[in-house]
Amino acid sequence: MRISISALPILPLVFGLSTLAVHAQDAGAPHLEKRGAATQLIVDGNPYLILGGELHNSSSSSLEYMKPLWPKLAAAGLNTVITPLSWELIEPKEGTYDFTLVDGLLAQARAANERIVFLWLASWKNGMSSYPPAWVKQDTRRFPRVVLHGNAIELLSPIMAGNTEQADAKAFAALMAHIKQVDAREHTVLMMQVENEVGVLGDSRDHSDDANTAFARQVPAELTAYLKAHRDTLYPDLRALWEANGAKTTGTWTEVFGDSARADEIFMAWHYARFVHAVTAHGKAAYNIPMYVNTWLMGDATPPGDYPSGGPEPRVLDVWRAAGSDLDFYAPDLYASNFEDWCRRYHRDGNPLFMPETRGGAAGAANVFTALGEEAGFGFSPFAIEDEADAKSDLAASYAILAKIAPLIAAHQADGSIHGFVLDKDNPTVDFVMQGLTIHVTLDEIFGYHADSGYGLILATGKDEFLGAGKGFRVSFSTRSASGPQVGIAAVDEGTFENSKWIPGRRLNGDENDQGKGWRFDPRKVGIQKVTLYRFE
Ligand code: DGJ
Repeated sequence: MRISISALPILPLVFGLSTLAVHAQDAGAPHLEKRGAATQLIVDGNPYLILGGELHNSSSSSLEYMKPLWPKLAAAGLNTVITPLSWELIEPKEGTYDFTLVDGLLAQARAANERIVFLWLASWKNGMSSYPPAWVKQDTRRFPRVVLHGNAIELLSPIMAGNTEQADAKAFAALMAHIKQVDAREHTVLMMQVENEVGVLGDSRDHSDDANTAFARQVPAELTAYLKAHRDTLYPDLRALWEANGAKTTGTWTEVFGDSARADEIFMAWHYARFVHAVTAHGKAAYNIPMYVNTWLMGDATPPGDYPSGGPEPRVLDVWRAAGSDLDFYAPDLYASNFEDWCRRYHRDGNPLFMPETRGGAAGAANVFTALGEEAGFGFSPFAIEDEADAKSDLAASYAILAKIAPLIAAHQADGSIHGFVLDKDNPTVDFVMQGLTIHVTLDEIFGYHADSGYGLILATGKDEFLGAGKGFRVSFSTRSASGPQVGIAAVDEGTFENSKWIPGRRLNGDENDQGKGWRFDPRKVGIQKVTLYRFE
């Protein structure tokens, strides 16, 4: 469908919308809701766990290319596909919007019973600006670029960039108005990612004249007021930097944050954040569904500029939050090996965990249990998913099991009675406490055989009753005091759920529970089991 802006049934575009605005709910639309201990994605009234995958960047630019992929993605157990949409294809000519692709992707997704999270690839993608339409790229006066080492590069600057912000926001608002028009009843589109891995690559900040002028100015009062008001909960690294420079509430960027690349990164974070919150605000005014930004993660020792400087890394996430509240949350693109550690850095202080990009394969099949089970995540999505859209993959096996128990996972995330874990030779055990019992989880072993990997989750489902899912681990239970009744395994049943009803399979005993000594999960196959315990003196 090709339409011009004058025909759009959207709200008037008032630029300079407050980035602290509270956006009106669209009745029945997907939204985030705090339920007990977890913030969950609510779709059609119920918590929804995204068992997803993100497409390669260019796949969804062609309906023909996508056509055979949807059934494969569905067969591999995905319920949601993270699907790029680019500004260049939606507004090839200024003011003329083409939603053919949006409509086609929605039709294909619905036919395959899939939901979508759209990525708005617009001003920025991976610290560059290759996705704006040519009419934006060629007008470097109207749409200023970042200057690095004396040269303007193909990277739009977020600083003093009202024209760019306005053009991006206008297109995004038109897109959201269209999505509302065609999807407000069906809710195929669950959320929007706004831009992709923003930040300056190649140096720690923009050195254009405008950027230098802004850098010499005072730090905005909103930012220092936020630091002061949230001092106790600031990310420790940011708090330490601010305090090391005197915890000032006024001053220039270098006076408040020191004369280093860290100050540059905070300065860029503020400007990207203001821009992206503003684009988000316009999108939400048209159709309010959850919106987030993602992050190119880098370790603390890497200098900003070697990764996109100003993106919502954990250490500047507070700066993004100080800049506005239009974005619902911040997401890590989590390829690093210390998976759980990074999950924790994002699952903190009210930020729920969703990862739009991560590793798939055997690593993804395991890590999804930590993300959903241990960190109350509401979604998981390996990148380049079409490369492993195979019903026989490890990921498909994990997703099949997780889909069976998704309502239980959501309920137990809310009441905090769930743990997830990944074990390997370097981390062969984990202990936690549930219902007053110590739960000791180790890699599976029996008769001298040792599994070298295992993963799963455990839910406390009742007094001395637990449900587990996963493979390659075994569990023992002990009371937390030597005196009083001890605890043993009464019964273990494998089984499954059909329409939320438990369908028991084999009673597992003998070798299958190591003669009553352990609750064992077969390393060859992901499964679901229930255990009941008994007490004895
Ligand atoms: C992260 C980006 O966000 C993706 O779009 C893609 O470029 C991947 N990196 C490639 O690994």
